[in-house]
Amino acid sequence: MKKIRLFCPDLSNKELDGVKKVFKKKWIGQGEEVIKLENEFKKFINCKYALATNSGSAALHLAIAAFNFKKKKKILVNNLTFVSSANAILLNNLEPVLVDSDPNTLGFSLEDAKKKVDKNTVALLVVHYGGHPAEMEKITKFAKSKKLKVIEDCAHCLGGVYKGRKLGNWGDAGCFSFEEKKIITSGDGGMITTNDKKLLKKIKAMRWCGIEKDTWSRDKKIFKSNKVNYSWYYEVSNLGYKYNLNDLSAVIARNQLKRIKFLNLVRRKIIKLYVQNLKKIGIKTLLPYMTKDSSYWLMGIRHKQREKLMEYLNKKNISTGVHYLPVSKHPLFKKFNKKVNFSNTIWKEILTLPLHTNMSKKDVIYIVNQIKNFETLKNT
Ligand SMILES: Cc1ncc(COP(=O)(O)O)c(C=O)c1O
Repeated sequence: MKKIRLFCPDLSNKELDGVKKVFKKKWIGQGEEVIKLENEFKKFINCKYALATNSGSAALHLAIAAFNFKKKKKILVNNLTFVSSANAILLNNLEPVLVDSDPNTLGFSLEDAKKKVDKNTVALLVVHYGGHPAEMEKITKFAKSKKLKVIEDCAHCLGGVYKGRKLGNWGDAGCFSFEEKKIITSGDGGMITTNDKKLLKKIKAMRWCGIEKDTWSRDKKIFKSNKVNYSWYYEVSNLGYKYNLNDLSAVIARNQLKRIKFLNLVRRKIIKLYVQNLKKIGIKTLLPYMTKDSSYWLMGIRHKQREKLMEYLNKKNISTGVHYLPVSKHPLFKKFNKKVNFSNTIWKEILTLPLHTNMSKKDVIYIVNQIKNFETLKNT
């Protein structure tokens, strides 16, 4: 029996045809595919602006940088998240204040955040953990009352809707990831969404070495007229990074985005099947899955004997994972490990199960049956 993968990208011939088209054109760097992706993405999220980056990590770094917060100010962020969310704060010479998980959703606990905000806090970086929406209505209301910026980390929730509004369109900026395991992928890639024109302008320059005009905008007329004469002149006033996406990745992302409704529908069906069957055997799910208009990246469970169960499932050809070791547990962040007791405990029980569109119903039933077998063996 072939091992059931934990994640698997869903790549169709449409993506491949797109890559061939870009190959033929022989412009594989940042160009019109990136611009088209940005336009399609902003329509999809229903926000004013979208800017592509070469990763979700880069998107977070730039989104924070664009606010020009004073050194050593504080940003609150989930403790249970991928390290990139917290790295982005340190990379901007700011201090991460780790927020504990809500016991039900394992996401950003507003109750805990309220206790931790002080006069040096400048923003909330809210991760929609596993794809479950954070309570953005209350969070944005609270942020407004304290004059805090809100940045949404949407790496896990592309296409998810909360109270009728797409995630990534609630805060001052939203950051997405197209890394290979994510809901849509371009190999690597990311996107920043915002409704703030000034923010957009700053991010745009920082995205490409501080240069305000990108090569395609400068050269498209010349390129299209077949006269190879690149206008070379540019000036740099602000420090920037090399965080732009290229057309090769963008064309893959565009074709993935066209298929997002289908991709999320299939994921929802798999999650429903998992939830129904796990319930029957009395296993607690990782998140309170609400599958109506959600986009979940993680399917998982909570189990007291996580390590033993992982080992057992591995022997049964089922890949599993742990998302995540809390930020506070990484040596780099140990000094920020303050009052995050729940996430520092619950992470020992969390287990990620396979979730991707290449899975069959049979795979899901097989996985649940193996968990059931483990339960039976454990009790004998
Ligand atoms: C919550 C979260 N934020 C940010 C990122 C960073 O995204 P990328 O891998 O595209 O840099 C990830 C990636 O796994 C993530 O899970």
